[in-house]
Amino acid sequence: MAGVAVVVLVVLAATFAFVYRSTGSQLRAQIDRSVRNSALQLKDAIQQRRVPTATAALTRAARYAGTQPFRDSNMLLFVLIPGSGTASNHPELFGYGRPDSRENGVSQRLENGYGLRLTQPQVGYSTKAAADSGAVRLFEVRFRIAGTTAYAGAGEPLETVEHAQEVVRHSFELAGAVGLALALLAAYLLGTRITGPIRRSAEVAARIDAGDLSPRIHLPSGSGNELQVMAEALNHMLDRLAGAFAAQREFVADASHELRTPLTVLRGQLDVLDGGDRDDGSLSPEELERVQRLMQGEIARLSRLVDDLLLLAQSDRDDFLRPVELRLDALVTELWDGLSLTAERNFELGHLEPVVVWADPDRLAQALRNLARNAVAQTQAPDGLVRVDVSRRGADVVRVTVSDDGPGIDPDLRERVFERFYRTDRARARADGGAGLGLAIVRAITEAHHGSVRVTDAPAGGAAFVLDLPLSSGRRPEPGMAATATATRSV
Ligand SMILES: Nc1ncnc2c1ncn2[C@@H]1O[C@H](COP(=O)(O)OP(=O)(O)OP(=O)(O)O)[C@@H](O)[C@H]1O
Ligand SMILES: [Mg+2]
Repeated sequence: MAGVAVVVLVVLAATFAFVYRSTGSQLRAQIDRSVRNSALQLKDAIQQRRVPTATAALTRAARYAGTQPFRDSNMLLFVLIPGSGTASNHPELFGYGRPDSRENGVSQRLENGYGLRLTQPQVGYSTKAAADSGAVRLFEVRFRIAGTTAYAGAGEPLETVEHAQEVVRHSFELAGAVGLALALLAAYLLGTRITGPIRRSAEVAARIDAGDLSPRIHLPSGSGNELQVMAEALNHMLDRLAGAFAAQREFVADASHELRTPLTVLRGQLDVLDGGDRDDGSLSPEELERVQRLMQGEIARLSRLVDDLLLLAQSDRDDFLRPVELRLDALVTELWDGLSLTAERNFELGHLEPVVVWADPDRLAQALRNLARNAVAQTQAPDGLVRVDVSRRGADVVRVTVSDDGPGIDPDLRERVFERFYRTDRARARADGGAGLGLAIVRAITEAHHGSVRVTDAPAGGAAFVLDLPLSSGRRPEPGMAATATATRSV
């Protein structure tokens, strides 16, 4: 508001100075023109006809001037003939004519002084003080008449200029006061309108800073498009933040819970070791072996859980993948051959299209291994089906399908199974069930490759997991990168 006040005052002052000065100079130029014209007209009128004497010239001048009385025209006309006298349409100014009975001696003398100065001829323009009228602008011209030198002059009081300038000043004072008040009012209203929503947003930000993620910015309608957009963006961000924090809390709680179970088992087994089952407090070799086996199993479970958690935590990072150019059909064949040694199932290689992809072989193998392990867990030995297919979908996409002849997945749960720590009730009931991270890892790896994964019904009756991967995974190989990745893999 102070800024607006300063701007308004500066603009008004500059405009005032300009108008004030130009009004004065224009009026003065106009007065100069009209006094000059009047003086010349007066001279012409007297010179029109010959006159015998200076006195006759003065009489003629007085008659001419009498036709334009000063009272009506505000134009002083006079003729001076040194040695003979003065004729004027305002004789009082020249110190003669009727004296004002009300004036005292001092002012009378002062007026006489002014009159004396007026009767001194001065050719051209001059400004002189005159009684009653203040300063008078004069123009005098010399001419000859009846054998003598005469001066014709005209004058106009300058008080009209002062008066006009006074009017200008008053107008500006009034306009300035009103303009300033209106500008300040407008600045205040505009300021509160703009800062209101910002203040409200700042209050919300302060509450969020204090740890409360629930408040949202609600702006009154008409707060301006940009502010509405900003508020919506902030609210959206807060929703996402709140969601992310909640998911993180849930994740930490689930992870802690999953870690606690094997730790409890381990502690229990340590107690068994402490107690012993024989009279002398030691363990029988069979019991020792059982405890050892149990503890190793739990430690393996713990390590896998920690590895899985670590992998999920890294999946957002740029260096999560070390992609190389690889033959996907070869990778799948190698993997299925290896898996067939670990479980007694019918590991079937279906249609394998030879295709080269730009992908991380270790991560991809891990995703396919997770799918195969799930299929093994859901099918019966010895000939439960665990099948893999590789086929091209259009020019840019390759599809890997891992299917089985197990119970399949309920359509309602087909999205949920990809959530972290999600297990179906049947899996929860099983003692050897995992933590529920396998499919979350599959999804994380697929998405890191810019692909997608979903589950449908398999032709054999079980579940079919469908991975669609872009052939180049959205990234072009960089010369140095491929070499490093290949080297890492060979290690
Ligand atoms: N091929 C399948 N057929 C039927 N159900 C499946 C299949 N694969 C996964 N599921 C169901 O989806 C759930 C989630 O699978 P996920 O691999 O994420 O976890 P998990 O196998 O239980 O544990 P983890 O893989 O961490 O050891 C499983 O609990 C299982 O019930
Ligand atoms: Mg699994």
